[in-house]
Amino acid sequence: MSARTLIFEIFRFDPQLPGDKPRTERFELEETPGMTVFIALNRLREEQDRSLQFDFVCRAGICGSCAMVINGKPTLACRTLTSTFSSPIITLMPLPGFELIGDLSVNTGKFMRALSERVGAWLHPTDAKPCINALEAPMDPAEAEAIYEADRCVECGCCVAGCATAQMRETFIAAVGFNKVARFALDSRDARKPDDFYHIIGDEDGVFGCMTLLGCHDNCPKDLNHQAQIAYLRRQLLRGSRIL
Ligand code: SF4
Ligand code: SF4
Ligand code: FES
Repeated sequence: MSARTLIFEIFRFDPQLPGDKPRTERFELEETPGMTVFIALNRLREEQDRSLQFDFVCRAGICGSCAMVINGKPTLACRTLTSTFSSPIITLMPLPGFELIGDLSVNTGKFMRALSERVGAWLHPTDAKPCINALEAPMDPAEAEAIYEADRCVECGCCVAGCATAQMRETFIAAVGFNKVARFALDSRDARKPDDFYHIIGDEDGVFGCMTLLGCHDNCPKDLNHQAQIAYLRRQLLRGSRIL
């Protein structure tokens, strides 16, 4: 069987270039076995247009840098095989809700850093003066497992791009923020109480502003269970007991 010719419809715009206008450009490329959208973009940049902007670091679904909207779905380019699409036409757009750097490249780093600072996404230790020579205390395996699960987030931004509330209200903390809060609420080494977390996510910009349409759950490439996490955070905040 002869190889397909793929047609990539790619969003182009360089905000740094005076007079540049947002537009879609069309590229053609012969499909090869095992081709991912990331591989295709690299070939397009090497062979057809060296000015094409997109991000990547790991090529293995670990860094979250290559997230973009592929045929209408926010996802990772390095984990998306072109063969999954029956149509040879593939549209590529940058993630909405983030500052555009150029073409398919957005500044998720700036967004994630501001979010981490806003929700205090670092351990607030129960011991104010920890002894560095003390033996590390063992952790309950179930607690360690739950923290590990939340820590699988790669900060790709797909949950934000797929969230209608986040697109309408830029102050909304969104699923990636809820996940950051849950990660520390789960951690028995963190001194913060439910009341402290309530002040971070207990309003319209937090879990009570979420419409529960679960675009986050459907679009998370790491398959984090946002549905269960949001429901649990809400229940626990309303009960006013320990969050998780
Ligand atoms: S469930 Fe909530 S956080 Fe998830 S996409 Fe919908 S509004 Fe956004
Ligand atoms: S929760 Fe999932 S979709 Fe959201 S940033 Fe983390 S890995 Fe990406
Ligand atoms: S390049 Fe790192 S997740 Fe795709």
